[in-house]
Amino acid sequence: MKKIFSLILAIIMIASVAMLAGCSTQGGDNELVMGTNAAFPPYEYYDEDGETIIGIDAEIAQAVADKIGMTLTIKDMEFDSLLTAVQSGAVDIVFAGLTVTDERKESVDFSITYATGIQVIIVPKDSDIKTVDDLDGKVIGVQAGTTGDIYCTDDYGQENVKQYANGALAVAALQNAQVDCVVIDNEPAKSFVDANDGLKILDTEYVTEDYAAAISKENTELTEKVNAAMEELKADGTIDSILAKYIKAE
Ligand code: ARG
Repeated sequence: MKKIFSLILAIIMIASVAMLAGCSTQGGDNELVMGTNAAFPPYEYYDEDGETIIGIDAEIAQAVADKIGMTLTIKDMEFDSLLTAVQSGAVDIVFAGLTVTDERKESVDFSITYATGIQVIIVPKDSDIKTVDDLDGKVIGVQAGTTGDIYCTDDYGQENVKQYANGALAVAALQNAQVDCVVIDNEPAKSFVDANDGLKILDTEYVTEDYAAAISKENTELTEKVNAAMEELKADGTIDSILAKYIKAE
């Protein structure tokens, strides 16, 4: 009798240890850690409370996480460390209004695209810069590591490009006449111009590009799941309605 009792006790103990272990690995597996740079409205920025990151990317990532049964956590970091973070596994996915480029494709995999961006030029209202052709020899402010930075450095030379940690700082430098213009994606450009007097966006477009999420090349399973989820969210109109919520038609 005593033997049977201790046998049952042993089985219960083993079973509960196994259950606990099972639960904890599952918890880890079920977290989707997204990296972003939350100074890029309306794609990612802080809510009025200053604590919650909201915007198009946060909502699309949440919808994707819900579809694939994972819990979303968002980590805010410097834009130019995002790709290293996803490569090293510090984050699982990057949603950051991130442009697909051939060079970036060498280090990460991209999901299907979900939006388009246009690199535009912000100038003071009375600027003598009227089109892209006037940029030669001007001092251009950019967010470090962005496509705006890369294109301007290639086209106008590093000595003419000033890098800032985010778009808002580049725009502040423009207000202080430390740069002659800012090259940045069109949607954040609109919100920076709305928030600052005396600035305008030139009618001329510099470069058009596609936004997608980035995932480690080693995590093809996640890329497949994310793509399947994004296809569904495109097909059922979820992505369109998230975009429409943040981007008002002109
Ligand atoms: N689309 C540009 C790029 O990929 C700028 C993205 C900046 N994103 C951000 N969250 N700050 O380089």
